[in-house]
Amino acid sequence: MSDTASTRATRNTPDHRPLVGAPELLPSLAPLLTEWVPRQRWFAGKGRLLTGFTLLSATELLPCTDPGAPGLLLLLVRAQQSAPPSRTPVGGDCYQLLLGVHPALSPQLAPAVIGRPGGGPLHGRTVYDALLDNRLCALLLERLRVPGRLGALRFCREPDADIPSGLPGRPIAVEQSNSSIVYGDSFILKVFRRIEPGVNPDLELPRALADAKCARVPAPAAWYEAAAAGEGGEATTLGVLQPFLAGSADGWQLALNALAVRADFTGSARALGHATAEVHTALAQTLPTTELRRPQLEVIAAQMHERLDATARAVPVLQPYRARLRTAFDALAATGHDGRSWAAQRIHGDLHLGQTLRSADEGRWSLIDFEGEPARPLAERRRPQPAVRDVAAMLRSFDYAARSGPAGGDPWALEWARRTRDAFCRGYAEAGGLDPRSVPELMRAYETDKAVYEVLYEARHRPDWLSVPMAAIRRLAAGDEPAVGAEGPGPARAAGSDDGRG
Ligand SMILES: Nc1ncnc2c1ncn2[C@@H]1O[C@H](COP(=O)(O)OP(=O)(O)O)[C@@H](O)[C@H]1O
Ligand SMILES: [Mg+2]
Repeated sequence: MSDTASTRATRNTPDHRPLVGAPELLPSLAPLLTEWVPRQRWFAGKGRLLTGFTLLSATELLPCTDPGAPGLLLLLVRAQQSAPPSRTPVGGDCYQLLLGVHPALSPQLAPAVIGRPGGGPLHGRTVYDALLDNRLCALLLERLRVPGRLGALRFCREPDADIPSGLPGRPIAVEQSNSSIVYGDSFILKVFRRIEPGVNPDLELPRALADAKCARVPAPAAWYEAAAAGEGGEATTLGVLQPFLAGSADGWQLALNALAVRADFTGSARALGHATAEVHTALAQTLPTTELRRPQLEVIAAQMHERLDATARAVPVLQPYRARLRTAFDALAATGHDGRSWAAQRIHGDLHLGQTLRSADEGRWSLIDFEGEPARPLAERRRPQPAVRDVAAMLRSFDYAARSGPAGGDPWALEWARRTRDAFCRGYAEAGGLDPRSVPELMRAYETDKAVYEVLYEARHRPDWLSVPMAAIRRLAAGDEPAVGAEGPGPARAAGSDDGRG
């Protein structure tokens, strides 16, 4: 970033007439955005017509009023879409858009172009995806280095965080459910795309873990948020900057590599079990916990039944297994009727191999991406839950790995999955986690619920992968093998997680 840009960003001259509030701003951008937004990987409303946007807020991170100079605009918008599914908040999903504005964009940035508004305050200038422009990425980092307010936004920084200035930023190659920028191999900024009012668990949980001195999760160094609309409301997290674990490899790729050369993965899985238990222990120590008794267990089982019924309606191949699968949820509810209770706490919520990183030097595992399952409402994701739900999800991920790629489904790979699952559970229990093998009712219910979720996801997005969760469905419906250590037939990363969303 040039000095000029940085100076302009922090200046608020009397002649600076902000775009914010200009009534023509959104109408002039809407035709471009209704074309561009649905093509983005992070757009959650695929398959439904996008008819327009409502503007929630507009902030100039770099003034956009000078027609001869580059600008950077942050918009929070609500998408207007046809036939919203039940999970969509009334009025549609909200998104964060970071738009560059330039009078004469360099040809290298051609792939970033969104379009040229035909009117309004940005008339004739090029509007483009700001996160593909190194200069604007650098400006965003500069903003995060200096805490303070800007319009509706607030930039925050941990007092002891050492964030050097001038680190070059580049978007990560794999676009997932959000957009991430890596700064000089030292930091990674995750820009949340679909936003909901309130603190994002991907800030809340890593901060709590940092306070608890749990080093398994990169500690947030800075973040930015939109102020609450009314008094007493919670700010909305928009982005989090955390240390980049350079040279680490993600667990999904490591597992596939091991499978490709028929290598054992039990040592890694056991160590990952340790890491997961450490994170769960620290979360239980620092954030609210609760005890799930009969009424709560009945509600959880009823929700699982509902998801199963809805999925069986949408994916008829599930129908023949429905009655048998229901027994898993009934068994969970029955534990409450028997007077048993289960501890609940904050959990990862979307744990799978793609959310783990292993360092190259010491082989030390870290967990990332604490947002939870992106399709579930924020309030639900922030609720305490049994920690074994994360364990069940990770076991499903080992199954997915064993059923994908060239070795997919071969008996050796299935045995690999069985041993790997066992090793993970062993490691989890050794490091102080509740032994998953001692809670078969919980494990079976959560594994079944996850497999049902995967069936719906694969049927909708990747029909070629449907055989993977269906193999688990057959095993779980048979119910003649314990959930842990049992093996069932299928390929992929976690379905419907950010890795799997298509
Ligand atoms: N702290 C980090 N160090 C190194 N790589 C990271 C880090 N955080 C995320 N990544 C990489 O970025 C990818 C996306 O990050 P993630 O937080 O999972 O975002 P999303 O919600 O889009 O899935 C990860 O799969 C991982 O490869
Ligand atoms: Mg992720």
